[in-house]
Amino acid sequence: MKAVRVLEYGGPLVFDEVPTPTIAGDNILVKVKSTAVNHIDLVKASGRVRQILPIDLPWIPGHEFSGVVERIGSDVAACAPGDAVFGTSGMGAYAEYLAVKPAAIARKPSNLSFEEAASVPVASQTAWQGIFTHGHLEEGQTILVHGGAGAVGAYAVQFASHAGATVIATASGNDEAYLNSIGASRVIDYREAQFEKVLREKVDVVFDLIGGDTQKRSFLVLKEGGHLVAATQPVSQEETARHRVSGAMMRLAPSADGLGRIARLLEEGTIRPDVASVYTLQDVAQAWKDIAGNLSRRRPHGKIVLRVA
Ligand SMILES: NC(=O)c1ccc[n+]([C@@H]2O[C@H](COP(=O)([O-])OP(=O)(O)OC[C@H]3O[C@@H](n4cnc5c(N)ncnc54)[C@H](OP(=O)(O)O)[C@@H]3O)[C@@H](O)[C@H]2O)c1
Repeated sequence: MKAVRVLEYGGPLVFDEVPTPTIAGDNILVKVKSTAVNHIDLVKASGRVRQILPIDLPWIPGHEFSGVVERIGSDVAACAPGDAVFGTSGMGAYAEYLAVKPAAIARKPSNLSFEEAASVPVASQTAWQGIFTHGHLEEGQTILVHGGAGAVGAYAVQFASHAGATVIATASGNDEAYLNSIGASRVIDYREAQFEKVLREKVDVVFDLIGGDTQKRSFLVLKEGGHLVAATQPVSQEETARHRVSGAMMRLAPSADGLGRIARLLEEGTIRPDVASVYTLQDVAQAWKDIAGNLSRRRPHGKIVLRVA
């Protein structure tokens, strides 16, 4: 099969012919239709985090995908060949075929294209687990989402609003209309104002997708007993104790049930995915350049998707 591989840390992406994965009894072989680019793909490939997130070289990147079940192992009952699915993988989705466990996939929402579906699993599950599992957000509460117009943030805004919470987001000013359209009742332009100076009331939950100084200042806007959930860096336990709040860095724990629940919300039109741009798998190097460059300039909302087949 064709796949994109990293042969050495910091080396180029190589579009190669490699063996198709074999599947064990509890595995599913998926013919990948699309995959999505995550910033962590570039970070892992660079070797900068090899002490904490090592990769086995040669490495096929790709943590999420959509596709069609090609073959199932003898112990698999959850799906059948021909089913359209989407899900997460520890690696390997930048390829024509991928072996996955049933616990990482769900049926693809029928109203989504394969490209849209591939953009969903990582960002949406991170948002869901961030605000509900770790943030314990409830109806009637108020949440502040830092980076609300990003891929994860946009799902957090939609889920929180759907759950009956009041949603405040920090973002660039020109994302205000977009954020209002997906459920934010207030948008604070992070380039123009310091959120802790303009917020009049404290919030129950902060979902921090930015880190650094943004995280430090978040303690000032949390109610006593509130929750600070960070997706980018650990939270100071000294500060959480001092402000009488809870705080932790989350790590996505993919689940078939969780993704299935999100698939239903997508299918009924309660939430929507955003795809920023689509490249072919062969053009992955350009997609990675885009992701790296996009960290410092304006761009369309949503994920960068790679069309595989
Ligand atoms: N822990 C986990 O399991 C997990 C899982 C998935 C993702 N993540 C991490 O979560 C973070 C967000 O991911 P993403 O995919 O949503 O990123 P993204 O799509 O790149 O979005 C980032 C957003 O943050 C905005 N932004 C930048 N600086 C800001 C600031 N100081 N205050 C408010 N908004 C600001 C950007 O707006 P402008 O472009 O207008 O500046 C952009 O809309 C990444 O660091 C990612 O690695 C963690």
